[in-house]
Amino acid sequence: MTVQDALAAMQMLATAEGRADPYPLYERLRAAGPVLPLGEGFAVVTGYAEADQVLRGTGFRVTDEAALDGSLPGWRSVASWRWLSRTMLWRNAPDHTRLRRLAGSAFTPRRVAALRADVAALAEGLIAPLAAAGEPADFMDTVAYPLPVSVICALLGVPDTDRDWFRPRAHDLTLALEVFAGDPDELARADAASDELGEYFVELLARRQREPGDDMISDLLAAGAAGEAGGAELVAHLVLLLIAGFETTTNLLGNGLAVLLDQPEHAARLRDRPELVDAYVEEMLRYDPPVQVTSRYAAQDAELAGVAVPAGTELLLVLAAAARDPRRFAEPHRFLPDREGAPSLSFGAGPHYCLGAPLARLEAQLAFPLLLERLPGLRAAGPATRRDRLGFRGYTRLPITP
Ligand code: HEM
Repeated sequence: MTVQDALAAMQMLATAEGRADPYPLYERLRAAGPVLPLGEGFAVVTGYAEADQVLRGTGFRVTDEAALDGSLPGWRSVASWRWLSRTMLWRNAPDHTRLRRLAGSAFTPRRVAALRADVAALAEGLIAPLAAAGEPADFMDTVAYPLPVSVICALLGVPDTDRDWFRPRAHDLTLALEVFAGDPDELARADAASDELGEYFVELLARRQREPGDDMISDLLAAGAAGEAGGAELVAHLVLLLIAGFETTTNLLGNGLAVLLDQPEHAARLRDRPELVDAYVEEMLRYDPPVQVTSRYAAQDAELAGVAVPAGTELLLVLAAAARDPRRFAEPHRFLPDREGAPSLSFGAGPHYCLGAPLARLEAQLAFPLLLERLPGLRAAGPATRRDRLGFRGYTRLPITP
């Protein structure tokens, strides 16, 4: 396979047709090697071991203010990138370590575990009406979207009634994180969303400062986050949690259910043996990851799979391709929940490993067995519609009959 073919596959990924089913295109990239330099200062990583090495390695960094100043002067005129640069996602040590520690002090395993009963009740409250109505419904609208939103609202202490206001803004803000971000209209929508969400949290913080509650925002304030991290950083962090909580878990639920509808033998097995749900959720995360890509740059000269990676090289890490690397996962294109060994990189790895992974797992682990138990005739009720996104892969519509 030639570099020309790999380049053509990259171009296809930037089209709606390519995004609809990117997996064959990832294979064309992989055929040219697990680490593929494509032009000066840019390489694509499709190998599991190599992506893992980059995510964990100290020689590789996320895009931060200093990197942007060098590569993209003028980036500060984009409000959504200014917002991102204040979050831990676009910070490196020691700043990242400080923010992560502060965020972790409020996002504790105890707090996630304490949410278990709430998550179960919320899932029940969404699924029971579907069972009672017995009518076809859109799974995305009725369960996959409202469940994670209600959970993140409960965690943050955001009034649930505001969630319809959040929905379009959270959706628009993720446009700033897309792989081929740069379309002026999309960036303008992302910018407006980042401003409006920022203002929302400034007000909510002031309210919680006056009247603390039993929620994460109040915990963060009590831990001194507003002072230590600076108000702007705290606001940026809360916006990040909100959109991370909105988009990704919704897509885990949708992508996972799509597999069960498509392969009813798996739905039947999980219905019979709900204790297998943890393995099913891990395989859903591997098979069709909600976050397909991320990126890093080389802070110093490096070598990956025998390929020289000079300092400054930008690396596109295709997590969803790493998840189908045949050197790590046998029969990678099959959904096989009984796999063993290290998990996929669908929550990342290393210092930026997903802060919300335990929460996302908890939601999926509670929702799938409940769905299968309450909806005995669960099947597809017509064609599903994919979102036209590459980075955040999911559905807009997933019709089901209960
Ligand atoms: C299935 C659901 C989810 C998936 C697939 C997912 C995926 C990811 C991935 C791949 C990263 C690493 C990005 C990188 O290294 O460049 C990440 C980071 C992060 N995620 Fe998630 N995520 C999910 C749910 C959540 C939830 C529910 C929250 C919060 C409530 C959350 C909060 C975060 C935060 C704050 C980071 C940044 C961590 C850091 O930079 O240190 N995620 N997530």
